[in-house]
Amino acid sequence: MRIISRGTSEGVKNAAASLIGGNLVAFPTETVYGLGADATNQNAVARIYQVKSRPLGHPLIVHISSPNNLDNWARDIPEYALNLARNFWPGPMTLILPRTSLVKDFVTGGQDNVGIRVPAHPIAIKILKEFESLGGLGVAAPSANRFGKVSPTTAIAVSEDLSDFLSPNDLILDGGPCIVGVESTIIDCTHVSPAILRPGAVTADMINHQLGIAMEYSNEEGDVKIKASGLLRTHYSPKATVFLSGDTQPGDGFIAISSINTPEGAIRLASPKNNLEFAQLLYESLRLADKKGLKRVLIIQPDNGGVGAAINDRLEKAAQSK
Ligand code: TXA
Ligand code: MG
Repeated sequence: MRIISRGTSEGVKNAAASLIGGNLVAFPTETVYGLGADATNQNAVARIYQVKSRPLGHPLIVHISSPNNLDNWARDIPEYALNLARNFWPGPMTLILPRTSLVKDFVTGGQDNVGIRVPAHPIAIKILKEFESLGGLGVAAPSANRFGKVSPTTAIAVSEDLSDFLSPNDLILDGGPCIVGVESTIIDCTHVSPAILRPGAVTADMINHQLGIAMEYSNEEGDVKIKASGLLRTHYSPKATVFLSGDTQPGDGFIAISSINTPEGAIRLASPKNNLEFAQLLYESLRLADKKGLKRVLIIQPDNGGVGAAINDRLEKAAQSK
């Protein structure tokens, strides 16, 4: 496994060639780092599950460079989904759509639908374009962490989580810290109207404002047909126990918006000025808690404005899982 610094054209070429050759490439997206494999290569995709220790059957998101390539992967695309794609791609949004025959069970966990995303990170787009110029069609990529753990927002975090499990020919591309910091908004587009399965930086309000579509939040237990690992209750968890209310004990970690003071004896892990910064810093500060060997972290939840709903979704899962 090699780490390549930044998105030099040589780094991008190496990454695309590695993917075509059936290797794994961890690469930056604007949300979190992904662990990519050629989405049509069964062996390469199988290695994603091994390296992550992810249970089989949890579907992967296929990343493509442009909405123009959507027809390779999805069929019977509703008009509202095309509208979403036009307005929010490239960007932190994944659409769940009925799959074409190109999409095999080893990507979808046997489901008849597939998650597709056009990421906005310049390095991700360059890799995807180069990969497609070599004949590739799409890159399956979950977040580049071990299953159930916190997603990585830096190349170092990917390396710390996965280097023991990657092979010599796999690559990690370093694109610096991710700007969004929480995973993409997942929207189920397999029914007459769309529903948000996982909140992210593309919010229900943004969609309503841009497209006049009122979004439903799907109850996680509501649709048993759709299996999304991020929807499991135990997820996004550091080693430390996360709690969202109550008092700190001396030596506990503490994360809150900067206007809230640190309780006496607690260790401040992050002081984001607003919800955007909160999302950017959240996963790194949970990793910091583990590096410091903290047993417990109190996080004061932000308001639900903007990306706040996504932060709170992740925090509630992180807090439930212990
Ligand atoms: O921001 C992101 O979405 C990042 C970057 C790398 O693109 N990816 C990511 O992938 O978060 P992952 O696998 O860690 O989380 C994707 C979630 C999982 O919970 C998965 O089960 C769900 O999306 N998912 C993928 N395909 C699906 C499908 N066809 N139907 C329902 N859920 C799906
Ligand atoms: Mg994940």
